[in-house]
Amino acid sequence: MIERTLVLIKPDGVQRSLTGELIQRFERVGLKIVGMKMAWVDKAFSQKHYAAHVKKPFYAGLEKMITEGPVIAMVFEGIHAVELVRKIVGPTEPRKAPPGTIRGDYAQHSYEYADKKGIAIKNLIHASGTKDEADVEVALWFKNNELHSYKTVHDVHVL
Ligand code: PPS
Repeated sequence: MIERTLVLIKPDGVQRSLTGELIQRFERVGLKIVGMKMAWVDKAFSQKHYAAHVKKPFYAGLEKMITEGPVIAMVFEGIHAVELVRKIVGPTEPRKAPPGTIRGDYAQHSYEYADKKGIAIKNLIHASGTKDEADVEVALWFKNNELHSYKTVHDVHVL
């Protein structure tokens, strides 16, 4: 039940200096950072990370966006962490994201706007969608020795 999930603060979030505020959104519910790094990925890595989307019409814009500057990559650990993180982040399209979610509070893009401009939708965060996806994404972004365990903290102090 205690899961790990991958969260990226994408280049738009880093460029807007929102990293501290965004990390706080996850920490304040009790999620624990068990891995964290800044990384500037290349096209080959983008194709691995977004393997499910490579053939989609918006992929070119997505690749341009994710490679245009550094990201903050994190692994969060907590109870039902995959679902909890997605709830905090909100729906993919900021236009539809309710207030109180990260995308609802900090972003305003719509698919219509992004598609018209030929760019990726700017929604600040990538978060794993399922437990299986999280396992694959965590392993892609982090080596085992870059990850730490909060098991004792969970058992004794939090849960
Ligand atoms: S899926 O299939 O459920 O994972 O689809 P979704 O969650 O919508 O993820 C699609 C990723 O592509 C990014 N993206 C776009 N999607 C659709 N249309 C446009 N124009 C578009 N531009 C970018 C979207 O943000 C998802 O990436 P991440 O990084 O996960 O947010």
